[in-house]
Amino acid sequence: MENDVAEILIPADRIAQRTGELGAAMTRDFAGKPLTIVIISSGALMFAADLVRQIPLPLELDVLSVKSYIGTRSSRRVTVLSELHVSLRDRHVVVVDDIFDSGLTLATVVEALSRQGPAEVRTCVLLQKERARDTALAPDYVGFPIPDLFVVGYGLDYKHKFRHLPFICTFKEEYVPVD
Ligand code: IMP
Ligand code: MG
Repeated sequence: MENDVAEILIPADRIAQRTGELGAAMTRDFAGKPLTIVIISSGALMFAADLVRQIPLPLELDVLSVKSYIGTRSSRRVTVLSELHVSLRDRHVVVVDDIFDSGLTLATVVEALSRQGPAEVRTCVLLQKERARDTALAPDYVGFPIPDLFVVGYGLDYKHKFRHLPFICTFKEEYVPVD
């Protein structure tokens, strides 16, 4: 598996350090407020698992399943596949995703959750690609800006592979589909 890695962009220790900083910022911002973290699965599971352990506040946690991407190309369609188990009424909600690419996934989720009566909906992503977004939405908390490359690891996948790698990397070209 390590042989499939082309370049490590962000090593595990930098992810851990930045996750701690984001957790500290959110701890300050949401102290005394009813906080709900909504994790977009599956890509954000590892990031969110580490992030929430850096937020020593009472909070509610739920997972939302969203389908937004096929292979290395955006399907340009975002489907919310599951419902939350928690009520968002009057809650301060932070949606956590792995990466902000076009922004359509987060924009769609924020719009859907905003209809459930929250006090506010903010967004947090580990990575944001440096390219024009297709939405007016900008993420509130960003781990790292990255070049417009297809990356995997620490939750991010290519066809369900590479999620378990502890770092963010590019992978060797033979994995990229020819289309
Ligand atoms: P967006 O809707 O275009 O912002 O895309 C967001 C979703 O696409 C993310 O939640 C990821 O699942 C997926 N995605 C976008 N870029 C990458 C990438 O470089 N590697 C792996 N998944 C990605
Ligand atoms: Mg994905």
